[in-house]
Amino acid sequence: EKIVLAYSGGLDTSVILKWLKETYDAEIIAFTADIGQKEELDGLEEKAFATGASKVYIDDLREEFARDFIFPMFQAGALYEGQYLLGTSIARPLIAKRMVEIARAEGATAIAHGATGKGNDQVRFELTAASLAPDIKVIAPWRIEAFREQFPGRAEMIAYAEKHGIPVKATASKPYSMDRNLLHISFESGMLEDPWFDASAASNRDMYVLSVSPEEAPDEPEYVELEFEAGNCVAINGERMTPLQVMEKLNELGGKHGIGRVDMVENRFVGMKSRGVYETPGGTILFTAHRKMESLTMDREVMHLRDSLIPKYASLVYNGFWFAPERLAIQALVTESQKNVTGTVRLKLYKGNVIAAGLKSPVSLYNPDIATMEADPTQAYDQGDATGFIRLNALRLKVAAAAQAKQR
Ligand code: ARG
Ligand code: SIN
Repeated sequence: EKIVLAYSGGLDTSVILKWLKETYDAEIIAFTADIGQKEELDGLEEKAFATGASKVYIDDLREEFARDFIFPMFQAGALYEGQYLLGTSIARPLIAKRMVEIARAEGATAIAHGATGKGNDQVRFELTAASLAPDIKVIAPWRIEAFREQFPGRAEMIAYAEKHGIPVKATASKPYSMDRNLLHISFESGMLEDPWFDASAASNRDMYVLSVSPEEAPDEPEYVELEFEAGNCVAINGERMTPLQVMEKLNELGGKHGIGRVDMVENRFVGMKSRGVYETPGGTILFTAHRKMESLTMDREVMHLRDSLIPKYASLVYNGFWFAPERLAIQALVTESQKNVTGTVRLKLYKGNVIAAGLKSPVSLYNPDIATMEADPTQAYDQGDATGFIRLNALRLKVAAAAQAKQR
């Protein structure tokens, strides 16, 4: 039997690798997706072999992540509960998709992951697997009682690792959990579990990785120009870039100016509220720039229709339904809505703020001749028409008000 394990090289997935091998008497294929997490990709292959993997895949999925996952999601303007740019949520379906592909190629019958039984990630991995490979079995050790009994805490895991010669890093582990990729870093648990804990305090500055605080950002603003074609950013400051390069460049700029920190309590799909802190520097610039570009180029009714679907789309991504038919159906509408979202947005980055500083487009729908307070040279709009327009719209309001008056 062969099992493909989503492996990070950390203590949990190292222990899980060995435990799976012993418990199922199976060959373990370790898989790590490079989605821009940076940390610990070197030495990972050796470590996986040393821990007992029979084969190791370390796949650079960064460009695919940016192009086929992040960009389509940003076209939708997705935001979960008004604050979260879905940095972890959007990565899971890609990791699971690749895992399933490897399982197929290797003739494996199961995939395994180290997500806990209390979180969203397990749902995202497994709904993706269900959509793409309904016959593949999923093993989630944290949901298996025997595993939880064997490893009630970190100490037992470290002891198990030492006993089996699994290399564990000597560095003290952080008192909170982190998940990093090209789009964001999330921080959860530890001191963050107290919602009164001030994560923005100077005394907590060492937690952050991608950004400085707004207070510590430069006193000089910086201008940046983003060029869009059909709702996707294709160039920054006049330089053509791939989606991956766009994300990297925007992360650097946003991080430098203290942009994109969010501290929130969110509703997990599994029912509980959870407190999270996010750094999404590049994503925050992209999100703002994209919305500004739409303001100049998108038809009103198309925009309002797409906007009405944002909470739904965001929940689908958050809850792990990326490959579900309803997400694909909404995406088709979103992609269609973006055809005219082309042009250039100029922004000013300053101490945590993304400030509008100019818009232009060869296909702008904004017509100053029509909107002007001065005489309209196009004669496209006759102010007298507004009288009837308002009268017809007021009709039912007047009827309702008269009915109300009769009741009193
Ligand atoms: N709460 C966020 C989400 O559900 C972040 C999850 C972080 N995951 C992790 N394994 N650390 O998308
Ligand atoms: C986990 O439980 O594995 C991380 C948190 C989450 O998935 O929401």
